[in-house]
Amino acid sequence: MHVTVVGTGYVGLVSGAGFADLGLSVTCVDCDGEKIDELSGGRIPIYEIGLEEIVRRNVKNNRLSFSTNLKSAVERSLVVFVAVGSPEGPNGEPDLSQVEAVANSLADYIDDYKVVVVKSTVPVGTCRWIKRLIEEKQKLRVKFDVVSNPEFLREGSAIEDFMRPNRVVIGAESEQAAAIVKDIYRPLYLIETPFIVTNLETSELIKYASNGFLATKISFINEMANLCEEIGADIHDVARGMGLDKRIGPKFLHPGPGYGGSCFPKDVLALAKMGQRFGTRLRIVEAVDEVNRLQRARVVQKIEGVLKSLEDKLIGVWGLSFKPNTDDIRESPAILICKGLTQSQARIQVYDPAAIPTAQKVLNGQDVRYCKDAYSAAAGTDALVIATEWNEFRNIDLEKVRSLMKSPIVFDLRNILSPEKVQSLGFQYFGTGR
Ligand code: UDX
Repeated sequence: MHVTVVGTGYVGLVSGAGFADLGLSVTCVDCDGEKIDELSGGRIPIYEIGLEEIVRRNVKNNRLSFSTNLKSAVERSLVVFVAVGSPEGPNGEPDLSQVEAVANSLADYIDDYKVVVVKSTVPVGTCRWIKRLIEEKQKLRVKFDVVSNPEFLREGSAIEDFMRPNRVVIGAESEQAAAIVKDIYRPLYLIETPFIVTNLETSELIKYASNGFLATKISFINEMANLCEEIGADIHDVARGMGLDKRIGPKFLHPGPGYGGSCFPKDVLALAKMGQRFGTRLRIVEAVDEVNRLQRARVVQKIEGVLKSLEDKLIGVWGLSFKPNTDDIRESPAILICKGLTQSQARIQVYDPAAIPTAQKVLNGQDVRYCKDAYSAAAGTDALVIATEWNEFRNIDLEKVRSLMKSPIVFDLRNILSPEKVQSLGFQYFGTGR
């Protein structure tokens, strides 16, 4: 079967490569010619473990190709996945202009029965709107179906999540379309992946409800962590004590400087807006967003509280990406902290194993020194902030770090160090919620 994937961002590229690996013949299409040239030359524009290998393998065996020509890709495909961006718009609702542009092109190019599968994260009602839009503008009056098939890929483990998903969700109005999409995922079906086949609106909401709930867990544990700091409790024991209850589960109960990334902040806001639009306010979801904003702002206040003033202080920051194993800095708490520190007149020196090039673009103009390793970022500093939990920070030589710092104060925002060990080496230690 031949399929087209429109959009070579995170989701499109991982899904396209993944489908090719499952045995389909895939054309990944993007309107950005430079990007397509890069990909055709075997260069992957994003940092994702395992992606380059899987792309190379499938290009080599002719199952995966890249093109800017949507028309010819659509003509030879039975299924067209829409995986273009739906970034946050000016009022907090997703900007659907890219999705709309693809729908308009499909209205021109659909020449035979096709299944249009929406992978982009879109508010409830969008798949039905796309169907109407294509129908209204269709050049050739041929039958087609629109299916919702949200993705649940985590950056840093996207290939693993694609190949071994917790579930595959398919929202469809036509049995034929649902069967075709199910067939695409058949290899996963054989390894007993649960499938949920439902209607369009339900499928669209499953995506938002899942991300909204995970973000709720994070904001909840962050507030508990803040309370722990006041009452002298240890958030790790609290989280463990909660997580052992099978109804709660241990995952997504790690406290920190708030959630970031390209999904949670945007999707939580979009879900809250959706509730308002349909006249059913989602007060928990609204609070999750507010708590997260406060949590991110709290860090700089905390550092300022300990150092008294940030003016002319030199602060080391370890980690810039929104989480480890990615160079993605979108909505990264680390970046917001860097900006907050420099706005309070501190100088910063930063290190990240992958995200320095991406961070340089947004921290441009601020008082920042970029360092080649974690030790140089700690040298001469008045305090050190561990903002992202990269593995290489866990087993670092702390004695060496201590000897390099001007004053040994560490803010371990992700709780990756042992407070006892750090304190015994002469550091003043501030974790999150312990
Ligand atoms: C998320 C969803 O997990 C994925 O299913 C969806 O499709 C896209 O959004 P991702 O953004 O890649 O994936 O990262 P994730 O691992 O979920 O972490 C998101 C943010 O939450 C990160 O900033 C992370 O540091 C933070 N987080 C996560 C916590 O602060 N505590 C936790 O316990 C877990």
